Amino acid sequence: MKDNRFSRRAALMGAAALPMIQAVTAQSKPKNVVISSANSYNGGVNCCAKAMEVIKAGGDTLDAVVAGVNIVELDPRDTSVGYGGLPNEDGVVELDCSCMHGPTRRGGAVGALRGIKTPSKIAQLVLLETDHMMLVGEGALKFAKVYGFQEEDLLTDKSRLAFRMWKREMRDRNGHTFWDSGIDGPPKPKKIGELRKSFPGYDDEMIAWAYDVAVNPPHGTINCISLNEKGEMSAITTTSGMAWKIAGRCGDSPIIGGGLWLDQDVGGAGSTGRGEENLRVAGAHTVVENMRHGMSPKEAALDALKRVARNFDNDEERLKAVDLNFYALRKDGEYAAASLWGGRGHDSQFVVATSDKASHQEPCVYLLERKA
Ligand code: GLY
Repeated sequence: MKDNRFSRRAALMGAAALPMIQAVTAQSKPKNVVISSANSYNGGVNCCAKAMEVIKAGGDTLDAVVAGVNIVELDPRDTSVGYGGLPNEDGVVELDCSCMHGPTRRGGAVGALRGIKTPSKIAQLVLLETDHMMLVGEGALKFAKVYGFQEEDLLTDKSRLAFRMWKREMRDRNGHTFWDSGIDGPPKPKKIGELRKSFPGYDDEMIAWAYDVAVNPPHGTINCISLNEKGEMSAITTTSGMAWKIAGRCGDSPIIGGGLWLDQDVGGAGSTGRGEENLRVAGAHTVVENMRHGMSPKEAALDALKRVARNFDNDEERLKAVDLNFYALRKDGEYAAASLWGGRGHDSQFVVATSDKASHQEPCVYLLERKA
């Protein structure tokens, strides 16, 4: 006999959940939108412009974001992504990437991939050509070679300088290395003049940059999310990860659900910044699930950042060392980006391109305000 009580209860629960579901389903017609992190050397602007060009030409949303981030992966000046990325503690560049394709609901990722300038293309091949979700290290490189990719040296003169600076000056700062737990304290300041002798042939600006990245290991990345007029979405995150990391370290970028998540019934999200802190809140997945339950992209991203702050007992002194950003694009085209820190000259930017407005930067909202 049919259990009418259960049916009534189910119907009531459905009705209770309805307002939240309506918040993300009763939207106007989708439009072409691409968002990305900003990145140096106009990387984000070029990335979104390229992705929008592919979308407007009728291309697939995943092909669009791959073509966009390829520009940044191949730019030797961006030391946080692809070719020219800062290496691990052995001086070897290891790249991480994940991608998701909304229409097929599939994902692909590579971790600690060496010798290939464009990990995005390999992650896309994992998605398209295999029954797996993620390949790492030696296996990922072997896989790339099967598809004709050439193994190359990914270090540039610039990234090699930074590696030498780190090796020579910073390996033992404050008495410990990455083999210790925790985030390092501030190092002793150095005078550029003292360093000139050891690094002849480089100008002061280059030496100052190398010193800065040696003492403040960066973990920049590019995340890009796309939506077309059919409501199809894709997303990608690609990075060289944290500079001077232990060989084999994977951050959040190749972790589907961490540095990237997409469900085109709701939207997509991605992250840049310190991957370890993002992974502790499964950030991109959290942002999308927040949107599923009715939050705006801005609220969803800020809520994920609040969870990160909670992991530090909201202690702003300890959080100072954390740099983290979330990017969110909802299926109706609404978008936002949120940084953990902002204010007083520290405001971050992200990039947006739409059918009507060329690729441009917009300010991120932020959770915590840096004092002077
Ligand atoms: N979000 C990049 C990384 O931590 O590797």
